[in-house]
Amino acid sequence: MNALQPTEIEYVFLGKLLVPYCDGCLSCVRVGEESCPEYATIGPIAARMDAADGLILGAPVHTFAVTGLMKNFVEYFMYKRNRPSFFGKKAIVTCTASGGGHKGVLDFLEGTAAAWGCDVVTRLGISSAQIQKPRYLALVDEGTRDVAEKFVTAIRGGRHQQVSLTQLVNFRAMQNMTRSQPGSKNFAYWEARNWLEAGYYTEAPASLWSRLFAGYIARRMRGAIRKGNIRPFR
Ligand SMILES: Cc1cc2nc3c(=O)[nH]c(=O)nc-3n(C[C@H](O)[C@H](O)[C@H](O)COP(=O)(O)O)c2cc1C
Repeated sequence: MNALQPTEIEYVFLGKLLVPYCDGCLSCVRVGEESCPEYATIGPIAARMDAADGLILGAPVHTFAVTGLMKNFVEYFMYKRNRPSFFGKKAIVTCTASGGGHKGVLDFLEGTAAAWGCDVVTRLGISSAQIQKPRYLALVDEGTRDVAEKFVTAIRGGRHQQVSLTQLVNFRAMQNMTRSQPGSKNFAYWEARNWLEAGYYTEAPASLWSRLFAGYIARRMRGAIRKGNIRPFR
């Protein structure tokens, strides 16, 4: 990235934060993020992420899943899934595994950054067991250069990225939930931004087909909730 333009990178090493396990009080969602028992640690990190042009979420693969450390960290940002604010901020996601399990971790990190409002530009997973092999290392170098270039270009460009069907459906699910909670912190946040009747958080482009399909799924979701015919998940 520095070869493309001078870049300032701030690292946050999750292992050094020493936050306990999120106890699931959901106070951040119901009352406000400032009420989190760990706000003294989490608040300043949220502010640093807010001030950044872009985010890089990275974690190793542990037992074919994201590490407990990363999972615990993002639990402290549950409020941001309910009240996203990182619109226009570009993100990339990365992971290392000895051999396999990249997809699940990259999917999780990508879904997390997107739920916070970021445009996820691209992703990269590396297998550390292969890194001594010159041919693999050359591919990693090539991939890394490509990721850096796409990230810098997206940050410079500043345009909203095309929104996927998954993002539109996730928006509709959050919208249905928020509509059913009048008087809540989330409701006020959504109402102030005119999201309660919108098709998406922003004016980002999306294909007509995915907009129509997301609208159809939203109606099906509302119907199922109204009729009370949601079934246990098997
Ligand atoms: C508890 C634990 C579980 C792991 N699980 C996996 C796994 O499911 N798949 C895999 O490919 N590597 C796994 N690894 C290896 C890590 O992904 C690897 O150590 C990490 O990417 C850093 O690479 P390095 O050890 O070569 O520096 C695991 C490592 C630990 C400590």
